[in-house]
Amino acid sequence: MAEMLLIAHEPLRAAMRLLVMGCGSSDAEAAAVADNLVEANLAGHDSHGIGMLPRYVGAVREGGLKVNAHVRTVLDAGALLRLDGDAGFGQVVGAETMALGIQRARSLGCAIVALGNAHHLGRIGAWAEMAVAAGMISLHFVNVLARPIVAPFGGAKAGFGTNPFTAGVPLKGRPPMILDFATSTIAQGKTRVAFNKGEPVPEGCLIDDEGRATTDPRWTVQPPFGALLPFGQHKGSGLAVLCELLGGALAAGLVGHRGDGSQQRVLNGMLSVIIDPRALHGSDGWEAAAEEFVAALLQIRPREGHERVLLAGEPERRMRAERLAQGLPVDGTTWQQILDAATSVGLDAQALQGSAGLT
Ligand SMILES: NC(=O)c1ccc[n+]([C@@H]2O[C@H](COP(=O)([O-])OP(=O)(O)OC[C@H]3O[C@@H](n4cnc5c(N)ncnc54)[C@H](O)[C@@H]3O)[C@@H](O)[C@H]2O)c1
Repeated sequence: MAEMLLIAHEPLRAAMRLLVMGCGSSDAEAAAVADNLVEANLAGHDSHGIGMLPRYVGAVREGGLKVNAHVRTVLDAGALLRLDGDAGFGQVVGAETMALGIQRARSLGCAIVALGNAHHLGRIGAWAEMAVAAGMISLHFVNVLARPIVAPFGGAKAGFGTNPFTAGVPLKGRPPMILDFATSTIAQGKTRVAFNKGEPVPEGCLIDDEGRATTDPRWTVQPPFGALLPFGQHKGSGLAVLCELLGGALAAGLVGHRGDGSQQRVLNGMLSVIIDPRALHGSDGWEAAAEEFVAALLQIRPREGHERVLLAGEPERRMRAERLAQGLPVDGTTWQQILDAATSVGLDAQALQGSAGLT
């Protein structure tokens, strides 16, 4: 297994800011991208953390990711907004999209926001967290415009991406529910992390190029490619297809199963539904009903092998507290890829290493 480094979050943010600035981003953009990626690592989703940066740097160098870009409004029809992300950093255009949608939901009670042409939006849970911090409920259907890597239920070949579905619900007097997952059995980045660590992926997640079950992550990393399987058999496969139809065809006007996949760029389409629950229900009625349900749910006796019933979002908050205190584990292969990316944009890899607090 590759060597593991342990890096405190502040120097890691500083080092990643340097790398993004090396691509030509403004200070503000570099901070937004670095913070969003480090937050994904803090939440325990290393698949959507700093390990994405070498690919982002490659995409900038190929011209597929535009630095210092912002969302442009294509359609403004009250509760309906259609935005173009101008192939800019998802960490920037995603935040701008949510800010516009939240503002609209605050004045109209709800908003449906279609975002197309955004570069990788990272951990979609970050956008639901923005909504719940403003007291809103949000739903997100996302497609991935890159080489297809997930096979539909019953299929022996990939037909779409890991199309995440995400929802955030604020709860009075307790942390929000943040349900945020790839519709594949595991996120693609988790196969990259496993491959970099030299570890197998769990059984039931992958097929090889002939459609046979395998646990070797190489089948999603190196050609000839196999495919990930959708979670939840035909049900998860159906949700993935819905994400492609809503996040892809409807929101972005583009679906993912095109292209030769040789480019680093990865675009996301995202349809977000943002609801102000107070506009729908006042405060008392819905909050009391939600609390009654959640309190009872969390008291259900755990099954063997489980500590207790958790609400989605809690594992990430727990991991965040742990990693803030102990530092973030980064595998040696990922770190080397980050240093190589720094060199590719003319930065001094040693200086970057130093700013992360490593000698
Ligand atoms: N931008 C993109 O193109 C893209 C594509 C795919 C995935 N993603 C992101 O990848 C990340 C990882 O996705 P994943 O599928 O690996 O996530 P995952 O399988 O770890 O599932 C995470 C979800 O399950 C909840 N959860 C975990 N354990 C739980 C428990 N014991 N009880 C209750 N709830 C529990 C978590 O709180 C979270 O909501 C997500 O943040 C997703 O947005 C992004």
